[in-house]
Amino acid sequence: MKSSISFLFVIFILHLIVSAVSGSSGYYGNGQNNNHVDEEETPKLDDDNAPTFPVEYLPADLDAYNGLSSSYYHTSCPEAEAIIFQKMEEWSKKDETILPSILRLFFHDSVVRGCDGSILLNHEGSERTAEASKTLRGFEVIDEIKKALEEKCPKTVSCADILTAAARDATHLLKGPYWLVPYGRKDGKFSVAKEADDLVPMGHEIISSLLELFQSMGLNVLDLVVLQGAHTVGRATCGRIQDRIYNYNGTGEADKSIDKQFLNYLTRKCRWASEYVDLDPITPNKFDAIYFKNILDKNMGLLATDQALTSSISTLKLVSAFVNSPALFDYQFGASMTKLSKVNVLTGDEGEVRTNCNFVNSNH
Ligand code: HEM
Repeated sequence: MKSSISFLFVIFILHLIVSAVSGSSGYYGNGQNNNHVDEEETPKLDDDNAPTFPVEYLPADLDAYNGLSSSYYHTSCPEAEAIIFQKMEEWSKKDETILPSILRLFFHDSVVRGCDGSILLNHEGSERTAEASKTLRGFEVIDEIKKALEEKCPKTVSCADILTAAARDATHLLKGPYWLVPYGRKDGKFSVAKEADDLVPMGHEIISSLLELFQSMGLNVLDLVVLQGAHTVGRATCGRIQDRIYNYNGTGEADKSIDKQFLNYLTRKCRWASEYVDLDPITPNKFDAIYFKNILDKNMGLLATDQALTSSISTLKLVSAFVNSPALFDYQFGASMTKLSKVNVLTGDEGEVRTNCNFVNSNH
């Protein structure tokens, strides 16, 4: 029964991909799209790996690899997921903007040394003190969840697992997809600010650099595009885009790829570097595929890296597929988040279960 449902699901996704790709031929010449895709300037991306059917991500074998398992806490802490979700829900009622911030915190954790809770360590020179981490939020949410879990099942649930589940719950609370999280990550003991500043992308990179970063983590162009779709929620500080709207590449002018009306809005909104502006100006609080529509149809990507998704053929095809099939975006986002959450994880004796996410156990 289970396998026939999976099979039907595969057929459904295949249908979506096929219709998305066949429907995509129109966007070079339909007269409505202002994106310029210059084959000459297109970064050399691995097109063969790009918009294919995501067969490697079928949910069936989630439990089977990297030593992680979605039933990892079933006997040691059966209430773990319920406690995490309950705390996330409570926080979201107090401050909805915390949900996207948790999602971003998870991304920053995963980029440096894999998903090992290294972003949560709080000491001089740790990742958390890096320039790239300056506007990260949500540490107190993870601390509160950890405290509740230590009361219920001491020394059992790692901070890396808490952050991974919290990111999934944040997505779901924003009306996005839900997926099974495999658990069993251990917490790392090292956290170095320079590594975060060297690795975490800040919004001005070109697509080939982003792809290089993702490939170094074992991810591909499909993961890159779909995960950037997280920018369907949350906000950026105006300081991040001021060069784009006032002095792009030292020209003294705005980035010409920005839609005129949107530029107008941004210049009014971003008088101060410390102001916030929504990453998805159309549906900022809802996890949906409108982010992709904004950049495809309207040149309304907030960060240069958002709009850059239309600058190479392979990323553009995927953007178009997600516009045509929002259900595909939902499915693939969960699959790629799961993949990201497995990058370089520590298991068994490779790490520890911190009792306080801010400190390694020997310092606590
Ligand atoms: C791959 C290229 C990426 C780049 C260049 C990038 C860059 C950025 C930047 C510059 C900001 C605004 C930060 C600020 O103003 O201080 C931001 C916000 C955000 N990013 Fe990304 N990001 C990327 C990928 C991701 C991924 C993979 C995720 C999640 C899976 C993610 C989730 C978020 C969220 C949710 C926010 C809003 C945070 C909030 O409202 O507090 N980003 N990102």
